[in-house]
Amino acid sequence: MNDLNTADGQKRAAALAALDHLEPGMRVGLGTGSTAEHFVTLLGERVKAGFALRACVATSERTATLARNYGLPLVDLNDVSTLDMTVDGADELDQDLNLIKGGGGALLREKVVAAASARMIVIADSSKLVNCLGAFPLPVEIVPFGWKHTAAKVAEAARAAGCTENFTHLRGGEAHPAHTDQGNLIVDIGARCIPDPQRLAAALSAIPGVVEHGLFLGLARVALLAGGQGVRKLGQG
Ligand code: A5P
Repeated sequence: MNDLNTADGQKRAAALAALDHLEPGMRVGLGTGSTAEHFVTLLGERVKAGFALRACVATSERTATLARNYGLPLVDLNDVSTLDMTVDGADELDQDLNLIKGGGGALLREKVVAAASARMIVIADSSKLVNCLGAFPLPVEIVPFGWKHTAAKVAEAARAAGCTENFTHLRGGEAHPAHTDQGNLIVDIGARCIPDPQRLAAALSAIPGVVEHGLFLGLARVALLAGGQGVRKLGQG
C-alpha cells in the first residue's frame, strides 16, 4: 500500500502505475532519482516473480548498482538497437510535458537514453507539475576546462532568453565541485521562470563547453502524476 499523503508514497504510486505500461520482452531504460528508484525496485520484484524483460539500460552508476542488486538484465546502451520505453522522474514538468531534469546530476545519460527510446514515461508526485518551468534551478552540464567562462555564457543565455532571474551556481561550490558520471561539472541556473524553454535550450546548446542541459523538450509522451487522490495520466501512449 502507498500512503498518498506523503510525497514518497505518491512517488511509489506513480512508479507502480508505470508497471502497467510494461510488456514481456521489452527493453527498458531506467531513470535516476528517488522516484525512478521506486520503479527499479518494483520492476526487480516483478522480474524476480517471473516477468521476462529482454534488457535494461541504466541512466546512472547509482541506478545501475540498484538494478544489479535486483537482478535486472542490465546491458550497455550500445548493445541494443533501441529501447521500447524509458521510465524516469523529473524535477519539474509543465502541461505540455516539457521537463526540467538533472537535479540528481544524471541529465546527460538520462537524455541520451530517453532519445534512444520509442517512448519516455515520466513518473512524479503532483507537486512537480508547474505553470512555468524554472523555479527548480535548471542544471547545465559543462566541461571542467574554463568552466567560469562557460558559466558566464550560460548566465548570459538565460538573460537573453528573458528568464526572470539568471544567476548561475557551480554545484557543490568551487572547493568541492560535484562531478557527473562523465566527469563533468554542473552549473544550475536560478531562472525562477523560463518564458521560452525552446529559445533557452537552443542558446545553451550553442555554447562551447556546454555538454547538455536539463530541458527535456518534446521527449516525454506520458506523465503519471500521483497526488492525494491517486494517479492521473497526462499525455497519450
Ligand atoms: C536525476 O538527474 C534527475 O533528473 C531526477 O530524475 C529528478 O531529479 C527527479 O528526482 P526525484 O525523483 O528524486 O524527485
